Amino acid sequence: MSKVILTGDRPTGKLHVGHYVGSLRRRVELQNSGEFDDIFIMIADAQALTDNADNPEKVRQNIIEVALDYLSVGLDPAKSTLFVQSQIPELTELSFYYMNLVTVSRLQRNPTVKAEIQMRNFETSIPVGFFTYPISQAADITAFKATTVPVGEDQEPMIEQCREIVHKFNTVYGETLVEPQILLPDNAACLRLPGTDGKAKMSKSLGNCIYLSDPEDVVKKKVMSMFTDPNHLRVEDPGEVENNPVFIYLDAFAKDEHFAEFAPDYANLQEMKDHYKRGGLGDVKVKKLLNNVLQTELEPIRKRREGFQKDIPYVYDVIKKGSEVAEQRAAQTLSEVKQAMKIDYFNDKELMAMQSAKYQATED
Ligand code: TRP
Repeated sequence: MSKVILTGDRPTGKLHVGHYVGSLRRRVELQNSGEFDDIFIMIADAQALTDNADNPEKVRQNIIEVALDYLSVGLDPAKSTLFVQSQIPELTELSFYYMNLVTVSRLQRNPTVKAEIQMRNFETSIPVGFFTYPISQAADITAFKATTVPVGEDQEPMIEQCREIVHKFNTVYGETLVEPQILLPDNAACLRLPGTDGKAKMSKSLGNCIYLSDPEDVVKKKVMSMFTDPNHLRVEDPGEVENNPVFIYLDAFAKDEHFAEFAPDYANLQEMKDHYKRGGLGDVKVKKLLNNVLQTELEPIRKRREGFQKDIPYVYDVIKKGSEVAEQRAAQTLSEVKQAMKIDYFNDKELMAMQSAKYQATED
């Protein structure tokens, strides 16, 4: 069986370092590993509209931002198909058929949906499209027969629900769809990078994100004003490294080489953490290291972005061509689905012969 990746992001803003360590960095490694037959990376605009129906302009503006972020981190259109969800009508059609295989109570139990309903204060006025987006996400994944879905931890319930839909479909209509595996970051700090203010989640509305496209001075300013251990008041005080965003970021980004270059007093992060815990290491020093580490990682991304920003028509062309390729693949799956569901009336010679025979027989 071929190995296929499908994953994507909602275009509601520029991508930030949480997206990067949670998924983007891994995608590029997987792309370059050569282990996959096909890689599909989707800008999930239709999904973004499920809770932004009244703000289509926001989604429209962010298509190019996400495409630029993809190209800047090193996703390569020669190796990965980058495309836009709404341009693949087959995904909507698949969603409609999958809806018959999912109960309302199952959707209500989906932890991601539950959390998002709370976060958005939808309460009793939940848009149906939003409520059913796990079904549409299952369509995204299965349309490409994805075997591997690299995503952040918050997407786990989505992949689980997708697997259930696949299982149900194959049980009812015969083996047609492929059950995907989730691929989570292997580093715990990357599962969910907190905001620079120490809040659990990075979010644009909280203003606590470091964006991949932030200029050098902005990154520095954000790092130097990051939340740390609130009880670490004086340099001599022992500090906490758990729940300390500066150290969580270092966990996600720092490599031993960085210490040789930027903090030669320490061989690695563990030694620095030990010093912080003992006391005698000030926050400014740790933040300076983090800034250096982040700048090292983000500099090539920023440079590539500047290059692509000079040729926006090229970027639109990449996602347009990608959408054409993606549609062909989704159309193939949809045709198999319709055949399995016995709604392929006009391609089914046997059906026609059978119906003809039935009426021929009654004529005599
Ligand atoms: N739900 C994902 C997010 O919020 C985006 C997404 C849509 C996705 N369809 C997908 C991710 C299919 C993986 C597979 O970021």
